Amino acid sequence: NNIGVIFDLDGVIVDTAKYHFLAWKNLADHLHIEFTETHNELLKGVSRVRSLEILLNIGHVTLSEERKREILISKNEDYLGYIKKMNADEILPGVNNLLNDLDSKGIKYVLGSASKNAPLILKQVGLLQRFEGIVDGNSVSKAKPDPEVFLIGAKKLNLKPENCIVFEDAIAGIEAANKAKMISVGVGDEETLNEADFNFNNLTEIPQDFFSKVIS
Ligand code: G6P
Ligand code: MG
Repeated sequence: NNIGVIFDLDGVIVDTAKYHFLAWKNLADHLHIEFTETHNELLKGVSRVRSLEILLNIGHVTLSEERKREILISKNEDYLGYIKKMNADEILPGVNNLLNDLDSKGIKYVLGSASKNAPLILKQVGLLQRFEGIVDGNSVSKAKPDPEVFLIGAKKLNLKPENCIVFEDAIAGIEAANKAKMISVGVGDEETLNEADFNFNNLTEIPQDFFSKVIS
């Protein structure tokens, strides 16, 4: 087969945004910064370091580099507490069917995530072995919207970027896929993800013939 798929993780395969929110909120309370679920939207698809910068900007708080490093470690420890309780019930609707469908069609897929916790999360929900390869926050130097994560994914699939289809729930991710000259599929709010080549509310909506029609 000469097409392949690259999946974002958070917001596409599982909903970890709620756990990121709890961990960031905990930290924000500690720093006396008001942090809401609306603010949390700004952190979707954004790297851990950048997320902290956004949070500190919201609260007009300045911290030393050392303090930031400490805070990032404790935020992640807090987050991992939630992740370690995850199981297969948290796989989002449509994911298992879609992966089965890709398997039966012989279409390969890899993960392209900004998260350094991606392998652990996939292991928790029992999906780690299903991917042809994992590109995560540990393997990239430039975060989305830079296309690096997806370009490495294309290499793992042994495919040209234009033959890769990216599923993403974040604006930064759609931008990265478009910059990589891949086919971008927005999963979630169509208005928010209006730069995507295709849009679906969730993965249950992907038509059977989507992959045969998408690349002609
Ligand atoms: C994903 C999430 C972001 C998160 C980033 C880094 O892209 O959507 O909200 O900040 O991964 O995650 P990590 O698990 O490395 O903190
Ligand atoms: Mg995401």
